[in-house]
Amino acid sequence: MIVCTSISQFREERARLLAASETPGSLGLFPTMGYLHAGHAEMIRIARKENRLVAVSIFVNPLQFGPHEDLERYPRSPEADEQLCRLLDVDLLFMPSIVEMYGQQPVLSSVHVGMLGSHLCGTSRPGHFDGVCTVVAKLFNIVMPTRAYFSRKDAQQLRIVQQMTRDLSFPVEIVAGPIVREEDGLAISSRNAYLTASERSIAPRIAQTLRTIQRRVAQGERDVALLQREAVHTLEAYEGIRVDYLSFVDPDTLQPFTTLVPGRETLCAAAVYVGKTRLIDNIDVRAPASTEYTVTARGKR
Ligand code: PAF
Repeated sequence: MIVCTSISQFREERARLLAASETPGSLGLFPTMGYLHAGHAEMIRIARKENRLVAVSIFVNPLQFGPHEDLERYPRSPEADEQLCRLLDVDLLFMPSIVEMYGQQPVLSSVHVGMLGSHLCGTSRPGHFDGVCTVVAKLFNIVMPTRAYFSRKDAQQLRIVQQMTRDLSFPVEIVAGPIVREEDGLAISSRNAYLTASERSIAPRIAQTLRTIQRRVAQGERDVALLQREAVHTLEAYEGIRVDYLSFVDPDTLQPFTTLVPGRETLCAAAVYVGKTRLIDNIDVRAPASTEYTVTARGKR
């Protein structure tokens, strides 16, 4: 594995590795902010299977953090991350500094995300997705991957990156990876490291509540407001839990639904504070297409 800290070094090594390969091969990029965990490892394994070369980037991107967010204390473990990448047979590890990525001055050019970034996490994190897309666009230009890998856990990020890739004509295939969970259902996230022992013990309630919603929808419940009320009530019954949002949205437009239509793809996405830690999760809650006969004036059809 080659570790690169500068853009020019990465470009040289990328060109050298591609030229050295006998068959023209694909390059898979998995962009991360480090503090790698089992969810990241799974994505790297998937990228490893699908590509001739695999690149992982580790960069805690200041542009996607708001002024009162956790940029300074975001967990970091560069040595362990490097070790894991070696173990998983990554070819290129890109770990630039902030100055290497953005220079000394304030960033003058950036990607602006339209409507898709304005609700769900965009409401409480204004500018967050502009920051994500700016760094992802830069990484696409530096790494020039064939494929790039994003987890379904960050469903809004995944959707926005897909749209940006299309809108800005990046020749990159966006691959959606699975949500990897702890045994008790908690979606694995670097931010789980912030949880105290007692917060950690109640955090799986988020995934459990989403599964309950999924079951209720499968059993025929269609009233979004009722499902939301029940879920918020269940979650906030635990001291220390506060729901930021819990929404039923179209996974393509991310627009909210007020009622559930059988057969229509629907994502239930939530951001929930456990103590001071904001965790996100989501689940597919498409209501099954109805198989019942409809009785009409002319009889059954
Ligand atoms: O999902 C993340 O870890 C980050 O938002 C990403 C995509 C690496 C951009 O900084």
